Amino acid sequence: MSEQTYLEKSLSAAVYPPLKRALGVVDTTLHRVAVDAGCGAGRDALFMIEHGYSVHAFDKSDKAIARLEEIGGRYINQTLFPKVSCFERFVYPKTALINACSSLFFCAPGLFASAWQNLTHSLLKGGVFCGHFMGPDDSWAKMGRGDLSIHAYSDILALFKDAFALAGDVGGLGR
Ligand SMILES: C[S@@+](CC[C@H](N)C(=O)[O-])C[C@H]1O[C@@H](n2cnc3c(N)ncnc32)[C@H](O)[C@@H]1O
Repeated sequence: MSEQTYLEKSLSAAVYPPLKRALGVVDTTLHRVAVDAGCGAGRDALFMIEHGYSVHAFDKSDKAIARLEEIGGRYINQTLFPKVSCFERFVYPKTALINACSSLFFCAPGLFASAWQNLTHSLLKGGVFCGHFMGPDDSWAKMGRGDLSIHAYSDILALFKDAFALAGDVGGLGR
């Protein structure tokens, strides 16, 4: 499937249920600032805007960001701030909600630690991270491509323990 076809299809896909859950548990007294990391065409970014958030949405693909700028044109520089960037370089604002649906495992393994640190340091106490990890049993992980970040469940627990030990809550990990 071409990237352009993928982007169009992604716009009509349903918003991920974990993102809906995240909106229900985030501390609503925080400033409503969210990040969509690896946003693609921005289905989830627009969903968060519709729920009252200002959304900083980034993707390494200029095609993805161009498509988001088309469909979210009316929000740009109001509540939508799109940028071509990547996980390890993006400069995060202080954030109540970080969404990384089907994206973060595309981070190169050698860059994942700095990307994760960059991401988690921006999350406000009471904020929520919502995203997918790729486990070793995933069919893509088994291809041995070498360019995907693969995490066993125990690795994920350790990531959250280290990142959020001071912030408190490591709850809500779904398998
Ligand atoms: C499967 S798509 C998911 C897109 C979107 N989150 C969604 O659910 O529709 C993965 C996205 O991650 C982006 N991506 C891959 N590697 C990235 C990186 N290192 N930094 C930022 N984005 C990246 C891709 O360009 C692609 O848009």
